Amino acid sequence: MSGDTKPATTVYLYELAWILPSIAIPVGMLVALVVTAFGVGIHLPGAEGRIDPTKVAQTPPFDQPGLVQVGPGRYEARIVAGIWTFTPAEIRVPAGSTVTFVVTSRDLVHGLMIHKANINLMLLPGQIARATARFDRPGEYPFLCHEYCGAAHHTMWGKVVVE
Ligand code: CUA
Repeated sequence: MSGDTKPATTVYLYELAWILPSIAIPVGMLVALVVTAFGVGIHLPGAEGRIDPTKVAQTPPFDQPGLVQVGPGRYEARIVAGIWTFTPAEIRVPAGSTVTFVVTSRDLVHGLMIHKANINLMLLPGQIARATARFDRPGEYPFLCHEYCGAAHHTMWGKVVVE
């Protein structure tokens, strides 16, 4: 039986092998958070403003949803999400345009995902979400709701057409 007993230093090393990663991993995660937030400037999409969710249809700019040219090659797409459509569901811009999406929801939580433009917004009622993308290549850029919003969630989509 004496062959089974291990020297105390071996046990200590095993403990150390667990203790050190359990400290190093959270510290590494914390460092990664600090670097991405303050060094690289990556943030969660923040609230760009709030409006009364019961008065979306009367509140500018959502009283007139659609595409507005705000400069040479620059557009603002004002979109209202609601069960189960985007208004408008189609946006047409010339190739090379920079489009800022200003979006809100008039009823419940929706999402706006434009996979090919790397846009991913959560749309909360009464909260304005904003994201900008450049569309250089002509073609269709489908967008869809990626937050489950009820029976016809899967039919809630639209597209950006770059001409
Ligand atoms: Cu709107 Cu899912």
